[in-house]
Amino acid sequence: MTNNATERRNFPAGFIWGSATAAAQVEGAAWEDGKEDSVWDTFARTPGNVKNLDTPAVAVDHYHRMPADVALMKDLGLDSYRFSTSWARVRPGDRGTSSAGLDFYSRLVDELLGAGILPWLTLYHWDLPQALEEKGGWANRDTAYRFVEYANDVYSALGDRVQHWTTFNEPFCSSLLGYGSGVHAPGRQEPRAAIAAVHHQHLAHGMAVNELRSRGAQQLGITLNLSNSIPRDASDPVDLEAARLFDSLQNRIFLDPILRGAYPEDSLKDLEPFGLAEAIRPGDLEIIGTPIDFLGVNHYHDDQISGHPDTSGADGHSGGAGRPVASPWIGAEHITFPSRGLPRTAMGWEVNPDGLRRLLVRLGEEYTDLPPLYITENGAAYDDVVSDDGSVPDAERTGFIMDHIAAVGRAIDAGADVRGYFVWSLMDNFEWSWGYSKRFGIVRVDYDTQERTVKDSGLAYSRLIAASRDED
Ligand code: NOJ
Repeated sequence: MTNNATERRNFPAGFIWGSATAAAQVEGAAWEDGKEDSVWDTFARTPGNVKNLDTPAVAVDHYHRMPADVALMKDLGLDSYRFSTSWARVRPGDRGTSSAGLDFYSRLVDELLGAGILPWLTLYHWDLPQALEEKGGWANRDTAYRFVEYANDVYSALGDRVQHWTTFNEPFCSSLLGYGSGVHAPGRQEPRAAIAAVHHQHLAHGMAVNELRSRGAQQLGITLNLSNSIPRDASDPVDLEAARLFDSLQNRIFLDPILRGAYPEDSLKDLEPFGLAEAIRPGDLEIIGTPIDFLGVNHYHDDQISGHPDTSGADGHSGGAGRPVASPWIGAEHITFPSRGLPRTAMGWEVNPDGLRRLLVRLGEEYTDLPPLYITENGAAYDDVVSDDGSVPDAERTGFIMDHIAAVGRAIDAGADVRGYFVWSLMDNFEWSWGYSKRFGIVRVDYDTQERTVKDSGLAYSRLIAASRDED
């Protein structure tokens, strides 16, 4: 572990230490108080889509245990809690606004503020109302306009108390994994729909930013999952080309429209056969490129890329936990992710903390006028063992988190404007197509009793927060 007090002093005063969850992963209460299916409720009902036939129906019952969960956050000393609102709870069946649905989030925000915890709200963490999927979902441009209605509903209810608004979480996943590889809900394997979904989510983001800003919101941003694209052999043109394609699909088709108001030229060319240019209407890019106040960065691993067949082992990227899935690398299905022989988490993702430093520094180098950065997710799944005394000595997760925090410190030293770090996740929860089989929490959840136990990683994170507060 490289974390120590010296490195902690790299963090600027006011640096936000938080933890994150998402509605569909923790709330449960899938049909309570008027809520109707989201695409994840529907997707999980089809055998083979989610490991062990797990569903988000109960999850970790946060909907009913919210006050106790907020008390736990307070005990941990979190500055901020990043959560998402569920579109399917706020506008069930896309028929209008549910006051009961909004009331849950209003109570959550009050509870957080009462505990001195900053609410960090995400509007879209993948749980589209199924009713909208039935009208074409994100492949349909109209969904972007529906998103603005939903954003307005949430803003009307919470805009007086919530300062930080994130439009989308990881649009890469809800477009390319949801409509391309099919490993995520709604499970479609239609490359053109996936590319349309990318553009329509961008448009929804830009329109919502403009709309909420006109209503007085001051901290508006988006969270992207970004990765370094490292060619296996930088002298091999085949690997270099594969790394370019990966960088385009993983990073630049999201970063460039939002930060520069334009898709990269090479991506436009690559994605021409999949309808990207056709999806763009006059004026869209100006809306999409409207300035934001922060960029959320989710980072778990970086990627070594090759254009040659891989014989080294699975990458964990496109593989699902159930039925066979397609490649999310549209037009670049041949790219491979050869192992570098690094240690791996339970997700199969290679551990390379310095990749986070490298990513943050690169963003500053390549994008002028980059807004302040927040690490909105970082963390690791490991197979936890509960000791006889009930404690969870998750040394690997603790090491992962502390080593990545140290890497953020080094990025700040190198000039990156990083203002906060959120551990994924506060609690073990529904890990999408992996169901409950992968545990990311710094708090363990016993799924039989819903009992919460702070893991050693949670205790270590809590001590780090307390120590950095002493230094402020
Ligand atoms: C990113 C997603 O935002 C989150 O929902 C997920 O659980 C983590 N990655 C871990 O895979």
